[in-house]
Amino acid sequence: MKSVAFAVGLLAMGGTAFAAPASALDYPTNSTRPGLNSLMKLNDGRYFGTAASAVHFNDSKWLSVLQDSDMFGSMTPENSQKWEATEPERGLFDFAAADLNVQKAQEAGQMVRCHTLIWYNGLPDWITSQTWTNETLIAVMENHIKEVVTHFKGQCYSWDVVNEAVNDDGSYRETIWYNTIGPEYIAMAYNMVAKYDPDAKLYYNDYGIEFINNKTLGAIALVKDLKEKGVKVDGVGIQGHYPVVLAPSYEDQVEVLQRFADLGVEVATTELDVFVEIPEKVEQVAMQTAIYADSVRACVDVPACIGVTVWGFYDPYSWVPGTVPGYGNADLFWANWTAKPAYDAIVNALLPKE
Ligand code: G3I
Repeated sequence: MKSVAFAVGLLAMGGTAFAAPASALDYPTNSTRPGLNSLMKLNDGRYFGTAASAVHFNDSKWLSVLQDSDMFGSMTPENSQKWEATEPERGLFDFAAADLNVQKAQEAGQMVRCHTLIWYNGLPDWITSQTWTNETLIAVMENHIKEVVTHFKGQCYSWDVVNEAVNDDGSYRETIWYNTIGPEYIAMAYNMVAKYDPDAKLYYNDYGIEFINNKTLGAIALVKDLKEKGVKVDGVGIQGHYPVVLAPSYEDQVEVLQRFADLGVEVATTELDVFVEIPEKVEQVAMQTAIYADSVRACVDVPACIGVTVWGFYDPYSWVPGTVPGYGNADLFWANWTAKPAYDAIVNALLPKE
């Protein structure tokens, strides 16, 4: 009842003036806005989360937004749980940055989507610069999973166990894992994580699977195969990194989320951001606005979709400009902390309809 009253209050405000949730922070925006997680919760208890990198925790402004649980109900450590961060030298584990990530989430009452264990990227040199046998690489994999998963046991809502294992044509990506161990590395990884943390939800997470194409069909086949083998896989994350000119429609996303859900897993959008060409053009900001809203609506309209995570919320800290030349401004807040039209479009998408 309390949430319904809150929503009705918001609706009554109408137009551009929004009611402030009780713990809203003084964002230096043109108006005070309702938090996205509070609104998302009104939609059958879903969460709205964000990725966050521990390197920004000394930015008190950014941290106050990150830790506003009206705004975000879930946090994904952006980099600190990756292999190069947690086991930079063989057998030497460093959890300092990741512990800080988890601590900040816990302080804010946010759940943690733990990210990520077996990926071709974010690997330290000691793995990529030598040749392994099948046996030695499996042993290295199990030791890493055992140490990391045990360290965070009980603190992860979910683990992105295998990340980005499929090529655009639907075949297996030829990673060090695939080339050395064979496709069996995938089931092995899930079995190992289930062994060391039986309570975490185990996800397959990938990009480019947000509309039906060969890659998506490959990912569907992969998850289906794991399920048929009795491997514990609980969820699929569709990442959602979109240049405005190449984003899936609302219908595409509903279809894909449902196709994965039909395999008997929960689904989530795990890394949403929408990048525009720099310098920014008004038309592309309008496209960005619609794409953000469509993604959130798609999740809300698929019963098995439990939440949406944005891959950061503040443009200056986005991964995009450093990786995708000519693109940027992918997040919900501009550098001057003004909320973008995409923010308000998400609010409108989330407000209960009559
Ligand atoms: O921490 C080191 C620092 O010590 C070093 O001096 C510096 C020099 O390059 O690099 C720093 O590490 C960088 C790290 O981000 C932390 O800032 C890496 O080079 C850089 O490659 C890394 O980029 C991250 C990327 O994944 C690769 O791990 C991005 O921040 C992160 O947003 C991005 O996130 C990925 C998801 O995990 C998976 N899906 C796609 C998504 C976007 O690419």
